[in-house]
Amino acid sequence: MTTGTDKIATARALMLARLEQTLDARLPGLPHFADPRTGEWTTTPDGDWTGGHFVGQLWLAASQDERFLNAAREYSARLDGREDSPTVFRGFLFHYGALLGGRLLGDDGAWKRAIRGAKGLMTAYNPASGIVPLGTAAEEAHSVGDTETSIDAVGAVVSLLATVADRIGDPAMAEAAVSHALRHIEICVRPDGSVCQSGTVDAGTGAVVRRYSHKGYSAESTWARAQAWAMLAFTMAAHRLPGRPVLLDAAIVVADWWIAKIPDDLVAYWDFDDPAIPGTLRDTSSTAIAAAALLKLAGLVPDSEAYRLFAQRTVHALVDGYVRPVPVLPTSIGVLGHGCYNKLIGLATDHELVWGDYYLTEALSVLAGELDPLAV
Ligand code: GLY
Repeated sequence: MTTGTDKIATARALMLARLEQTLDARLPGLPHFADPRTGEWTTTPDGDWTGGHFVGQLWLAASQDERFLNAAREYSARLDGREDSPTVFRGFLFHYGALLGGRLLGDDGAWKRAIRGAKGLMTAYNPASGIVPLGTAAEEAHSVGDTETSIDAVGAVVSLLATVADRIGDPAMAEAAVSHALRHIEICVRPDGSVCQSGTVDAGTGAVVRRYSHKGYSAESTWARAQAWAMLAFTMAAHRLPGRPVLLDAAIVVADWWIAKIPDDLVAYWDFDDPAIPGTLRDTSSTAIAAAALLKLAGLVPDSEAYRLFAQRTVHALVDGYVRPVPVLPTSIGVLGHGCYNKLIGLATDHELVWGDYYLTEALSVLAGELDPLAV
C-alpha cells in the first residue's frame, strides 16, 4: 500500500528528474510551457513572465542539494536587465528568480538582483492610484498600460517589495507594498469572496473605472487562476505585512470560496463558470497555486489543520490524476499535465506549465517537511 509520505516522495523524485532533464537539454532560453506528449519546451529568450518560476524550482532544489546551486545562479543571472522591463510581472521574475535565492540560501548575487528588481518595480509605482499597474510590456493579451491591473502578480510584487524594503530600509517601498495589496482587495475581491481578475483605474485618482478579465470566461465569471492568485496574494501579503488584519481576512475569504466551490475531485476547471463544465479544460496550475497558498495560510491562522489537510488532499489529487510520464522520456520523469495557459486565444491549453511545476514542487517540499511555506 502506498502511504501519503511515499506518494509525496515519489512525486518529488519524478519532478526533480524532469528538472534535471530540462537542465541537461541546455535550452536556449527559459522554459515557458511544454507539450505533454513530447516534453518539448517552448522557451522565452528573457523569461517573459514565467521564467522566474523555473529559477525558483532551481533555488528550491539547491536548498536541498548543492549540485543545483550553479544552475540556480546561472539561470537567475539570465534575468539581468529585466528589472527595467515596463511590466508588473517583473514581480514574478525577481521574487522567484532572485529573492528565493537570497532568502533560502543567503546568496549575495541573488539578493542584489532582488533589490534591483524591487527598485525597478518602484519606478512604475503610481502613488496617486496606489498600485504598480500592468505596464506597457505586460504579457496579457489585451488592455495593458498604466491604467490596467490584475490580481495575478500581487503576491510576488508585495512580497518582493516588502522584503527588500525591510532589507534596505526603504519606507516608501514598504508603503507601496501595503497600498498595492490593499487596493487589490478593493479592485478584485467580490462581496461573495470570488475574484475578478482585472481592473481599469483612473491613473490620476485611482478610482476603479471597470472590472473585467484578461483570461477568464467573462467579466462576471471566476477564472480559476484569478482565485488562486488572490489566495496566494493575500496570504503572502498578510505574512509580509503583519498587523493588518484586513489582509488575513481577505486571504481567508478567497480561500474559503475556493474550498466551497472546487469540484469534488479537487482540481479546478479553467474557469469556475464555464457553462461547458464538465466537458471543458482543467487548469492544474491554478490548483497547484491554490495548494501552495493554503499551506501558507495554515501557517498564519489559529485553526490551521483544516487548511493544511485540504492542501494535502489537493496535492494528492494532482499527483494521482495529473502527474504523468512523458511517452518519449524515461519513466523516472513525471510532469504535471493539463495546465491551461490561455483558453481564449488557444495558447497552451492542455500543457505542462512552468509555473504549475513550481507551485506543485513548492507544495510537495512543504509536505515533505523540507520547506517552511512562509519562507518563499
Ligand atoms: N498573467 C499570469 C497568468 O496568466 O496567470
